[in-house]
Amino acid sequence: MQRLLIDGKKILSGSITISGSKNATLPILAATILNKNTTISNIPFVNDIFTMIELLKSIGLRYKLSKKKKSVEVINEKKNINPVAPYKLVKTMRAGILVLGPLLARYKKAKVSLPGGCAIGSRPVDLHLFALKKLGAKIRIKNGYIFASATNGLSGAKIKFPSISVGATENAILASVAAKGMTVLENCAIEPEIKDLINFLKKLGAKIKVKSRKIIIDGLITQKKISHKVICDRIELGTYLIGGALTAKKLKLKNINPFLIKKEISILKKMGVKMKIYKNFIEVYKTINLKKVNIKTEPYPGFPTDLQAQIMILMTQANGTSKIKESIFENRFMHVPELKRMGAKIEIHNNIAYIFGPSLLNGAEVMATDLRASVSLVLAALIAEKRTNINRIYHLDRGYQELEKKLTNCKARITRI
Ligand code: EPZ
Repeated sequence: MQRLLIDGKKILSGSITISGSKNATLPILAATILNKNTTISNIPFVNDIFTMIELLKSIGLRYKLSKKKKSVEVINEKKNINPVAPYKLVKTMRAGILVLGPLLARYKKAKVSLPGGCAIGSRPVDLHLFALKKLGAKIRIKNGYIFASATNGLSGAKIKFPSISVGATENAILASVAAKGMTVLENCAIEPEIKDLINFLKKLGAKIKVKSRKIIIDGLITQKKISHKVICDRIELGTYLIGGALTAKKLKLKNINPFLIKKEISILKKMGVKMKIYKNFIEVYKTINLKKVNIKTEPYPGFPTDLQAQIMILMTQANGTSKIKESIFENRFMHVPELKRMGAKIEIHNNIAYIFGPSLLNGAEVMATDLRASVSLVLAALIAEKRTNINRIYHLDRGYQELEKKLTNCKARITRI
């Protein structure tokens, strides 16, 4: 098992190129099942993307990856494929469930493993199945698998989600672009990654309108040779922005769109973070005398749960008591016990964390639990006294491309063992 050794208290400077969005690339990769020839560029070279490509391959699609061009070409000209997402792939990456909608839409049947729980919560898929049933799919669960079929094809429907889900909204869109008639989805997630998926599907001829949390889908897609460049990874951007505010003489973050992180920028400004925002890059500077702030994680355009663990590190350095209410996942404070071992003063009451700052962090041996918890430990290690040893870092490789290289290029001292 690999681990990272990080020597803290180094002043960072330099620039970091932000990769393409993992969470935008995953549903677009699932969407390639619907098309014959798709090239996706600006993809991040991280393990979750490789797992999704592996899944497409096991279904019967062909692909060509190019690290130099940061792209993948996916070819799917087959009439008969193997419409199965096996347990061994879906258990390592829950986004495997996203092939359910496109498989049903194009091949009229699918067998997809139930993902099961994970470190941040139980994460059921009932909302995905609710939407697909409304579109006419017959669904049965047996031996840990979802068996879905739509012998006569899917039909458009009016679907109001009882609560907001990114993945369920994506699966419903992916299925309804090949359903007969109009589909109206209400109470949808409207994350930038969903807008990117919609822009991709429009290139295939889908007619999709987004009005507030309502998404209207009409008109079938047609198969074409198309290419699409995915948006920048707003969570990676937010992570390094916080990293810069903690450590940098000057850190330039490139290949970005600041409009994707408007809420995050407004919170960081409230804390007093020094930054300069340009059209496609941001410069950020180490900020002392940070102010306390209260946040609540919410669906977009609210503050993202995927940046909750990282902003907590900034709060440990702010004056006074900051508060975080985690309203998306029931178990997303797994990093807190590890941060306390490094000297952070944090208390949790139900889904609220109280962070008492400023506190001096000390290097320690810590354990990473999920992707964002892991990167928060990296941020903590960068400002801690002496050396931090982070175990179980395979989570980081699922979602952060070349994290050590990006940081060591900016003068951080990090070794992978
Ligand atoms: C997406 O997960 C992201 N993953 C997550 O990023 C992100 O944390 C999450 O959205 C919230 O923003 C990808 O895009 C691949 P949800 P998803 O369905 O779609 C409950 C990261 O670190 N729910 O919006 O799985 C669920 O349990 C990852 O990059 C149901 O109850 O999230 C949760 O409490 C982690 N039933 C809430 O809804 C369902 O059928 C929101 O989950 C589906 C979800």
